[in-house]
Amino acid sequence: MTAQDHITIVDVPARKRRDLEWILEESFEGWYLMHSRRTLRDVEVVRAAMSSGKPVGLVMLKTLEGSVGYVYYIAVAKAERKKGIAKQLLADALRLFKASKMEEVLASVEEDNKPSEALFASEGFTRTSFGQLSRLHGSLHTLNMYRIMTVVPGEVLLRKAIA
Ligand SMILES: CC(C)(COP(=O)(O)OP(=O)(O)OC[C@H]1O[C@@H](n2cnc3c(N)ncnc32)[C@H](O)[C@@H]1OP(=O)(O)O)[C@@H](O)C(=O)NCCC(=O)NCCS
Repeated sequence: MTAQDHITIVDVPARKRRDLEWILEESFEGWYLMHSRRTLRDVEVVRAAMSSGKPVGLVMLKTLEGSVGYVYYIAVAKAERKKGIAKQLLADALRLFKASKMEEVLASVEEDNKPSEALFASEGFTRTSFGQLSRLHGSLHTLNMYRIMTVVPGEVLLRKAIA
């Protein structure tokens, strides 16, 4: 567990993840809401930002090919945005990935989602592409990663090397 200011970041086991669904409902719509709910149930790691014992944000994490980590979804309760909570969740995720020997981390965001891209940029992520990742990992591995990440048209892929 890490603590910064009044926020603590904790691991959330599968049986307690339902308590976080309202944050997704405030943050996503349509296909994304449905998919984020399903991912919340099934994904390897969920971390929640807690304030006074109440969850105020969450991040879902997964390992892709070998040493590549993926930030699946990150969301903060509407009333708690722009206070640096997502930044703390992302910094915590990067620490976890580094501790488990990941060498790079990917995230996909909707092209016009300015808050999200600003968040990832503030932690050093930059845009990447299928071609760039293929040069690093080969096109077969890259195709497989795209499949696991469920990157859909209109999204851009972001990358940060952490080795
Ligand atoms: C994207 C989201 C998680 C950001 O959460 P947050 O707690 O408000 O973000 P933070 O306060 O930690 O801000 C982190 C950085 O992003 C920037 N940022 C956050 N919201 C922003 C906005 N609306 N416009 C511009 N920049 C923004 C901050 O300025 C900060 O950058 P800095 O450190 O360089 O100042 C939140 O807006 C959200 O839950 N949105 C809905 C879900 C979503 O789109 N998730 C991302 C895709 S999975």
